[in-house]
Amino acid sequence: MKKFADDVIAGVTGHMNGDHTEDNVLIAKAFGYPEATASMMTGVTPEAGLWRVTDAAGEHELSVPWPGGVISERPEIRREVVALYNAACDRLGVPRREEHAPRRPRHAADHHGHGSAPHAPHPGTTPDGPKPFSAVIRESSWSDHSDSEGATFMEDIMRGVGTKQDYIDLVAQHYFVYEALEAAATRIAEADPAFARFHPAALTRLPAIEADLASLIGDDWRERIAPVPATAAYAERIREVGDEGWTAGVLAHHYTRYLGDLSGGQMIAKRVAKQHGLGSEGIAFYDFSELGSLVDFKNAYRAALDEFGETLDEAERARMLEEVRAAYGFNTAVFVDLGSAKAAA
Ligand code: HEM
Repeated sequence: MKKFADDVIAGVTGHMNGDHTEDNVLIAKAFGYPEATASMMTGVTPEAGLWRVTDAAGEHELSVPWPGGVISERPEIRREVVALYNAACDRLGVPRREEHAPRRPRHAADHHGHGSAPHAPHPGTTPDGPKPFSAVIRESSWSDHSDSEGATFMEDIMRGVGTKQDYIDLVAQHYFVYEALEAAATRIAEADPAFARFHPAALTRLPAIEADLASLIGDDWRERIAPVPATAAYAERIREVGDEGWTAGVLAHHYTRYLGDLSGGQMIAKRVAKQHGLGSEGIAFYDFSELGSLVDFKNAYRAALDEFGETLDEAERARMLEEVRAAYGFNTAVFVDLGSAKAAA
């Protein structure tokens, strides 16, 4: 059976991951992962839709056959995705939306998006005992994730209405953030073996950011970039936490950036590359191929977080969670500042 072209698949997955994040989770919950907290559409075949689903146990590949059988034409994809959404609603007893309109998690009434329950009454426990720390972190910060993801500047990039200059401005902010983050991570890794496993060399982003900036701006890129106020505050906070030698604090920032780069970041890269016709130059930041399988890496990272969490007492776990939420807050603030700078330009 004829496969769908890459640009068709990128269009469908980009739309689903940009505008229908909650629906992806609904489908995951209905078709095999009732406790799904996140779900990203990763592919389309003539036989099925493909998702990568996250729940407390880690990440899973999910393939759901199209309700109408094998398909071969682009318009049939939309029909089948809608049919899957409807079938998922029916299975879960959730009312279907009248029209299949986009529904995004940032809307005020539903910051918890993704169908998860990030602020469950007892986030540290499940009916089967204590919840893994990585799941606690994800769930208690998912509403902050939704805020970051839903910031207009970021959303415009994901919806293909951001300009190339927007993307360049974002890369420039990354430079200041990763300069601070990787300095702190390197220092803590040297001092604390418990941290070193989170920070393999292949994660290091600064050289890739520098190469991206050189190709996007030119050799004099360093003189032509500046942090927006939120980026300066973000980098300052990372430096502060690093200077204190606070491992859990640095890890909070580390988790928020790198797990994001390995998740939604991969979608951002595809979107931007396609829209602005960028090859590997300009989006090297998102290329983690040296890490091997990203799914395996993220699962190992979460397992390491679980173990790390066991070494912390309740107060320290809560402090680290607050730092993760603060890290998301800084990211959202950076998008807000970039949006204001753009509006003022
Ligand atoms: C348009 C923007 C974004 C999209 C579409 C997006 C999407 C996603 C998705 C689908 C996941 C689920 C994991 C997976 O299936 O691989 C995820 C995870 C994650 N994202 Fe984002 N994201 C975006 C922006 C951000 C931002 C700005 C940050 C913070 C800097 C961030 C941080 C994270 C983190 C830390 C995780 C891992 C959560 C966990 O499993 O513990 N994301 N993102």
